Amino acid sequence: SGRRSLRRPFATSSGACPGIVGRSYRHVEATHTTEPHFVLRTLHQSWIINFFCNYEESRGNYLVDVDGNRMLDLYTQISSIPIGYNHPALLKLMTNPHNLSTFVNRPALGILPPENFPDKISESLLSVAPSGMSRVQTMACGSCSNENAFKSMFIWYRNKERGQTAPSDQDLSTCMVNQAPGCPDLSILSFMGSFHGRTMGCLATTHSKVIHKLDIPSFDWPIAPFPRLQYPLEEFTRENAQEESRCLEEVEDLIVKWRQKGKPVAGIVVEPIQAEGGDNHASPDFFRSLRNIARKHGSAFHVDEVQTGGGTTGKFWAHEHWGMDDPADIVSFSKKLLTGGYFQRDELQPDKPYRIFNTWMGDPSKNLFLAEVLNVIHRENLLEEVTRSGKALLKGLYELQGQYPNILSRARGQGTFCAVDICDDETRNSIMLKARDKGVILGGCGDRSIRFRPALVFKEYHVHIFLNIFSDVLAQLK
Ligand SMILES: Cc1ncc(COP(=O)(O)O)c(C=O)c1O
Repeated sequence: SGRRSLRRPFATSSGACPGIVGRSYRHVEATHTTEPHFVLRTLHQSWIINFFCNYEESRGNYLVDVDGNRMLDLYTQISSIPIGYNHPALLKLMTNPHNLSTFVNRPALGILPPENFPDKISESLLSVAPSGMSRVQTMACGSCSNENAFKSMFIWYRNKERGQTAPSDQDLSTCMVNQAPGCPDLSILSFMGSFHGRTMGCLATTHSKVIHKLDIPSFDWPIAPFPRLQYPLEEFTRENAQEESRCLEEVEDLIVKWRQKGKPVAGIVVEPIQAEGGDNHASPDFFRSLRNIARKHGSAFHVDEVQTGGGTTGKFWAHEHWGMDDPADIVSFSKKLLTGGYFQRDELQPDKPYRIFNTWMGDPSKNLFLAEVLNVIHRENLLEEVTRSGKALLKGLYELQGQYPNILSRARGQGTFCAVDICDDETRNSIMLKARDKGVILGGCGDRSIRFRPALVFKEYHVHIFLNIFSDVLAQLK
């Protein structure tokens, strides 16, 4: 194809593809021990490096590798680049001398915030606060956000159980030795196939791949089935509604069972679209019912928008598609918002300082970038753009699925947050490598899906560039 050789880190038997976390435990050996990836392996975790990048040369939707290959990026650093590489508006922020101290001095935000922090947080995060939420807590990454959101739900639940009275002496003494009642047997209900991060608490609610979980102790918390819908959704409304009712019934049963076990469900956590677990959708009705079940049983409702938030579904938050004034008690975010954190309803605010705390508690320089990202989203009508490109992408996937029914199935999506299933894992990996050789970066999810996670500046003409290449790759496989 005339492309310069990609310096692949490892020759693998199964193919080291962007976004595919190996599910086997085979170690893949480096072929040339002096290559940078091998050197890096001795310094840092690098088993799954796909290739080295040249970020200076990367622009907009195009990521450039060290060999100078320019690739259309539909995976964008695991869905975390909001408006493309080196956006001029973001570069300009770096040249403003008034911003320098924010980039140079990273404060311990919880105790020593900069003077302009309230203004900056109002301009950035609070301007996109989900309905019913006027409080935000910034954190570093997605897992860290969820971990602290879980703690907030537990604190809220225990305060409620105690009737908002002070903890007893027994609470205080037992918590220091990891015993109840100070460390209570509370639980969080999550869904099979979900991904909420890899830290210890989050991992207890993550059920997407064995590789994340093996050998790590966990909690006895309830896990409900997530609906396994048929696509296109419009053609299977009756079957899908039945499947969703089945899952909702199971949720209620589990809440009752866990209460009887003495491990009440303090919170329910759910992704609006299960991403890492295979891009599994559910209807607005499903989420509205789930929200009601949480309310009925006195559990907090936590919507994890780490991957879906920031505009990629055509609305700023995916939960806006549910059309609710009161969609959640907690909404966590990271990735496209550049900083991690969570919004919460007033009642969820902890009653004492240091109950939710860490050294950095976010990074004010990320709020500067985010405020500018939000300006660009508004100025360039990027949510409309995403809706338009998303429609073209899904239409193209449906057409290719019709043409290659033995390879593609279950095309699905909202905005550009789209996915398609491939007949098997091996073919999926081969398609992704072939696409990369032709200049397109894709990511995998679930057992055999390809997920599309372009930046918000991915336009209709980029969709057509992608579809042409994808079509060529599929024709080669046939
Ligand atoms: C829905 C969801 N929650 C949480 C996380 C964890 O975020 P991080 O990798 O920043 O810890 C991810 C990461 O992919 C995610 O997709």
